[in-house]
Formats: sequence, structure tokens, C-alpha cells
Amino acid sequence: MRVAMIGSGYVGLVSGACFADFGHEVVCVDVNAQRIADLKKGIIPIYEPGLDRLVADNVAANRLSFTTDLNEAVPTAEAVFIAVGTPERRGDGHADLRYVQEAAREIARAMAGYTVVVNKSTVPVGTGDMVEGIIREARPEAEFSVVSNPEFLREGAAIEDFKRPDRVVVGANDERAKQVMAELYRPLSLNAAPVLFTDRRTAELTKYAANAFLATKITFINEIADLCEEVGADVQLVARGIGMDKRIGPKFLNAGPGYGGSCFPKDTKALMRSAQDYGVAMRIVESVVAVNDARKTAMARKVVKACGGSVQGKTIAVLGLTFKPNTDDMRDSPAISIIGALQRAGARIRAFDPVGMEQAKKELTDVAYATDAYDCAHGADALVLITEWDAFRALDLARLKQRMAAPVVVDLRNVYRAEEMARHGFDYVRVGGRP
Ligand code: NAD
Ligand code: UGA
Repeated sequence: MRVAMIGSGYVGLVSGACFADFGHEVVCVDVNAQRIADLKKGIIPIYEPGLDRLVADNVAANRLSFTTDLNEAVPTAEAVFIAVGTPERRGDGHADLRYVQEAAREIARAMAGYTVVVNKSTVPVGTGDMVEGIIREARPEAEFSVVSNPEFLREGAAIEDFKRPDRVVVGANDERAKQVMAELYRPLSLNAAPVLFTDRRTAELTKYAANAFLATKITFINEIADLCEEVGADVQLVARGIGMDKRIGPKFLNAGPGYGGSCFPKDTKALMRSAQDYGVAMRIVESVVAVNDARKTAMARKVVKACGGSVQGKTIAVLGLTFKPNTDDMRDSPAISIIGALQRAGARIRAFDPVGMEQAKKELTDVAYATDAYDCAHGADALVLITEWDAFRALDLARLKQRMAAPVVVDLRNVYRAEEMARHGFDYVRVGGRP
């Protein structure tokens, strides 16, 4: 099938490359000319494991190409995906739909013949109706359907998630569109992925419900971690103990510095806001948002406490800046708030991230960047592990300690074992551990 992908960011590029790998003919479009020029040269604009190879293979097979011009992609496409950003709207927390609206207007101008317009961006309920309205107004005679097909991939594991998803959700209000979508995702049936067909509004809400539920799970275990610290219990064992119950499940129960990233923070707020518009109070989601926001400053306080009550004039080494490992994405990374709070408390920050430092430099000021974990620890009064990159999982502890001015480690991802750290003479603080 011929597919046009409007927006070639994390979701558009990964989805486009995966659809091409399934054998479809995909053209990825983006307004960012630099991004498209880079992609044409084989330069991948984001860090996502395996994506460079996937793109190169499918470009070589003539199944994947890139353009800034919608007209090269849309008129011949049977399915046109909208995969543009839906960031938080300044001031009110709603999803900002301007890029979706613009994409819809451009698609309307370019499409020819029956076209299924598929919204893959995360959008509030009713956005499908809005997109349909925009296209209908511009092209009253056009034959088209608008479908909701939210994406559930995670950054850092995006290709695997796309190719072997737990499920695909397709919200289609008519049979013709449903058949096009079934054909598009047919290769996934080989991977035994169920495709759940729903109406459009249900699919739109399913996406927000999934993200809000996952954010709730994380926030719940983070609060249990706080209690563990007070009562002398171990949150990792509590998580295992509850996760073995199949009704709860073992995933997304890692206590940490609070969730971040380009999606959970904005999507929980957008869900809360749109529910308010309908007069529905989503108290659980409201609490999750508030608890998670407060957690980042609480993590900074944890560091201050580990440093004896003050970080004034002290050097704090920070390992890991991106919101999670295996991505260069700094959007809403907990590191930004934690570092900001430590700086306001008078700390000097030295930081290292295996991949995210270029992005970090755009977000953080007055940070000294190190060349590796040991360089980062040099002269530090405390070391804080914020993101659990593999590169930080097996550090040479003796070497690390030798570099530091004081042997204080605050491990916000519970990567190390308390006994091991004690054996190496560290003052070790983790999340949800026995005091
Ligand atoms: P992104 O910012 O990485 O990419 C969006 C791209 O769209 C940008 O390259 C931008 O230049 C381009 N764009 C904007 N307007 C355009 C237009 N009119 N025509 C062509 N290109 C245009 O965003 P993302 O992280 O890929 O997220 C896209 C959507 O998918 C969001 O709604 C997000 O919530 C959702 N989502 C993201 C993830 C994720 O892991 N990042 C996962 C699931 C869902
Ligand atoms: C998340 C969802 O997992 C995807 O299903 C969804 O498609 C995506 O949002 C989206 O809508 O964009 P992502 O943000 O890439 O994916 O990363 P996650 O692995 O979910 O992590 C999000 C945040 O939660 C990170 O800061 C991570 O460190 C934190 N987290 C995750 C925890 O603190 N504990 C956990 O157990 C899991």
C-alpha cells in the first residue's frame, strides 16, 4: 500500500520506517527542511536504537523516501498519517492542536481519490471530528475517511514496540476505512498482535487513558517508596511482591525521580483539562500530576539531605540527563527540575549523559559537562544518578570513590545495591530503601 506520513519525528519516522519494512511504500514528510535534507543523506535526526539501519535498508529497497512537499506524497497515498506534535498549550494545559489543524488543511489541498486520513498524534476526543470538518470544508466533494490510530510505542524501544505491540487500536467509523487499516496492519498479525477496532472517539480516549494509567502506576509506587523509607521496607521487593499478582503486573513499578518525557506530563494534563471541560473531575489523574510535580523538588531535597543539609558551594555530579535511557529526548526530563532546584540551593553542577548532552545544553544553564562518569565525579561532594543508562550500571566503584571529594551517592533509579555501596565506603541513598 502507499502511505504518506506527515511529521517525521519520533513517531512519524519510526512508524514510517516500520511500515516500509512491512513492505508498504512510504513517503515521510516534514516541514523541517533541515530534517528532510539530513534524512535524504542518511542522517537520522533522533537517537533511537536500530533506526539508522532500518531507515537505510528501506531507503535502499526503494520503499522509504523523504520530502518537504506534501504533493509528492499525499495524492497517490491510500493512507495519510498525521504524526505531528501535540505539545501542551501554553497557559491552560490543553493539547495544542495547531500542527494537527495545519496538517489537515495541507492534506485537504493535496489529496486525490479515496483517502484514509489517519490520526496517529495523541489528541483529545473530538479531534477526528475536527479534522474531518477541516477537510470537508476545504474539499466538499472529496472522498475520504478520518481514522484514529493512536501510537503506544516507547522511545528507546520504539521499533520493537511498533513491530510487536501488545495491541493496535483503530478507531474507524466506517467499514471502508476499517478495511484499509486492516490491510495496512496485516503484516502485524504474523507477530500475533491483536488489532482492536473501535469507534473514533473511543480510540482517541483509549490513548490518554493508557498513558494516564501508566503514569498513575509509577506515581503509586513512588508514594509507596516514600513510605518504605519511613517504615524501613524495600520498595523493589514490594514492587515484586505486588507485581507477581497478574491483576497488577510487574511492569511500570520502578520507583524513581518521577515520570518525565514528551508524553506522560503533557497527556495527563490534557486529559485532566478536557475532562474538566465536560464537567468530569478526574481526581486520580489530578493527584498524579500534582504528586509527580512535587516529587522532583523532593528529589532535590533528598540530595541536600544526603549532603548534610546544605549544597551551598558544593559540587554535585549528575549522571544521566535524558528522561529515560536510550533516547536523546530531554523534554520534561526530571533532571531539568532537579538540577534547577539544586542550583537554586547554591550547588555547582557537573553532568554527564551518554547521548543527551547536546539536547541538554539547550535546556540547562551553568552546567559543566564531563566526558564520562569518572570525569563527572571528579571533585564532587555528591554524585546523583538520575537516568539509568547501561553505562552507569557497572561503574568501577573504587575508581569513582577515588575521584570524589566526598563519597556520597544518591541513586534515584535504584541501580546499585546498598550492601555493595557500603562495602566500598559510600554514603549511599536510594529511593524507597531501608534507612
Ligand atoms: P516530534 O516533535 O518528534 O515530531 C513531530 C514532527 O512533525 C516534527 O519533525 C515537525 O517538524 C513535524 N511537523 C509539524 N507540523 C507539520 C506539518 N504541517 N507538516 C509536516 N510536518 C510537520 O513529535 P513526536 O514525539 O513524534 O510526537 C508526535 C505525536 O505522537 C504527539 O502527539 C505525541 O504525543 C505522540 N506520541 C509520541 C510518542 C513518543 O514516544 N515520542 C509515542 C506515542 C505517541
Ligand atoms: C510512554 C508510554 O510508555 C508509551 O506507551 C507511549 O506511547 C508514550 O509514552 C507516548 O505516548 O508518547 P515514553 O515516554 O517513551 O513512553 O517512556 P516510558 O518508558 O513510558 O517512560 C516515561 C517516564 O516514566 C520516564 O521518565 C521513565 O523513567 C518513567 N518510569 C517508567 C518510571 O519512573 N518507572 C517505571 O517503572 C517506568
